[in-house]
Amino acid sequence: MSLQIDSVEWTPDLESGVDVLDAQHRRYFELVNAFLQRASRTPSTPETVSDLAETFNFLRQYAVEHFSTEQEIMRRANYPDFELHEKQHLYFLKHVEELYQQMKSKGYSAALAREVNYYTIEWFIRHIRVTDMKLVKFLKEESARDKNLLGFLSRMYGSLFPKRGNDAVL
Ligand SMILES: [Fe+2]
Ligand SMILES: [Fe+2]
Repeated sequence: MSLQIDSVEWTPDLESGVDVLDAQHRRYFELVNAFLQRASRTPSTPETVSDLAETFNFLRQYAVEHFSTEQEIMRRANYPDFELHEKQHLYFLKHVEELYQQMKSKGYSAALAREVNYYTIEWFIRHIRVTDMKLVKFLKEESARDKNLLGFLSRMYGSLFPKRGNDAVL
């Protein structure tokens, strides 16, 4: 089975400077890599296909969590492009849900691997570079005016990543 890609690397240009988003994006990359590694060594027995689908589902669920964090931030910051950004999240989740269902019912083909790579890597990286970075620019401008927004981002980071402390924000 040709899977084309077996890992994806976090690069510094994906760093936004908003800690909570960067930490979640990094975690997402870790989960993509865990999935890709599993996919690259999975022979297609029903059990391993089902294990692989569940690893993919874990990644899908993390994306749901991450998107809901971003959406909470956008609401709190009265972000003017909220709807457009949310639409992109919904687009991704719709496709990833379809891929998960296909994986469960038909196994992991080379064609499905290409689709998975497109949405979970290419699409996602482009979304960070363009759409998330636009939000980040707004958050940086807005938090210069609204110190409560900084506090909100800091608390959110602290509650999601308690071990790494509560003080880092932007
Ligand atoms: Fe994001
Ligand atoms: Fe986003």
